[in-house]
Amino acid sequence: MTATVIDGKEFAAKVRAQVATHVTRLKTDHGITPGLAVVLVGEDPASQVYVRSKGKMTVEVGMKSVEHKLDVQTSESDLLALIDQLNKDPEIHGILVQLPLPKHLNEELVVNSVDPAKDVDGFHISNVGLLGTGQKSMVPCTPLGCLMMLRDHHGSISGMNAVVIGRSNIVGKPMAQLLLNDSATVTIAHSRTKDLADVVRRADIVVAAVGRPEMVLGDWIKPGATVIDVGINRLDAPEKGEGKTKLVGDAHYESCAAVAGAITPVPGGVGPMTIACLLANTVTACCRANG
Ligand code: GUN
Repeated sequence: MTATVIDGKEFAAKVRAQVATHVTRLKTDHGITPGLAVVLVGEDPASQVYVRSKGKMTVEVGMKSVEHKLDVQTSESDLLALIDQLNKDPEIHGILVQLPLPKHLNEELVVNSVDPAKDVDGFHISNVGLLGTGQKSMVPCTPLGCLMMLRDHHGSISGMNAVVIGRSNIVGKPMAQLLLNDSATVTIAHSRTKDLADVVRRADIVVAAVGRPEMVLGDWIKPGATVIDVGINRLDAPEKGEGKTKLVGDAHYESCAAVAGAITPVPGGVGPMTIACLLANTVTACCRANG
C-alpha cells in the first residue's frame, strides 16, 4: 500500500480562506477587526521564524497583528505587566506568549496570567480543565489542526484505536483529550512506554509527537493506519551540500508511507495547520468577546 498524503498546506490555505471571509464579515457587519498579540522573549531562532510567520499570516487574513519582542533578560514582573495591559486592551482578542521562555521566567505563572478568553493557545489551566471535561474552551492549535485533518480524512473517528506518542502539555495530552472527546479509544504512549512498537501496531490512528527524528518506523504501523506526524526536526543533510539541513518528522516517512493508509508529510503537514488554527482561534475569541 502507498499512503494517501494528507496535504496540510492545502488544507491550511482553505482554513485561512474561511477565516478571512469571517474577518471581512466582522469588519463590514460589526466594525470589528480581530487582533492578535504575540509576545516573544529573547532571540531563539526557531521562535523568531514562527513569530514572523504568524504575524504575516495574521495580516494576510485581514486581522490586526501586534508583536512584542522583549529582551532575553526581561523580568517576570515586566512580562506580567505587558500581559495585563494586553488582557485589558479591547482591540486585542488573542494573546500568544511564544514558548519556551527563558529559564528565569516561570512559564506556568506566565501562561496562567493570560485572560482565558484571550488564550488562543489553549494553555491556561481553565481551558485545560474545560477541554478535559468536554466543555467549550480554547483548544491548543497543533492538536486542533491534527483533529481537523483526521475528521476530514475519516469523517468520524468514533471507536477507532488511537495512539498518541508524546505526553507534552502542548500537544500529547490535549491531543489525547480531543480524540477521546470524539469517541476514539485512546492510548498515550511516551519515551518510557514498554514495547512501544507493539502498542503502535494496534493503532488505527498514530499521532507522533515525541520530538525524536524518524523514530516511528514503517514496521510499527498497522497496514492502512493513519499517521499524523507532529515532529519538526532539523537534521544535517550533507547529501544536499555542505552545511545543508533538512526537516524530518518523528515518523520515518518512506517506510511509514509504504504501509499506512494516509500520512502527513513534514514539512507541509501539521505545521501549516497550527498557524491556521491559531487564526481560527483568534476569530473565535473575538466572536465570543462580542457576543
Ligand atoms: N512553541 C512551540 N509551539 C508553540 C505553540 O503552539 N504556542 C506557543 N505559545 N509556543 C509554542
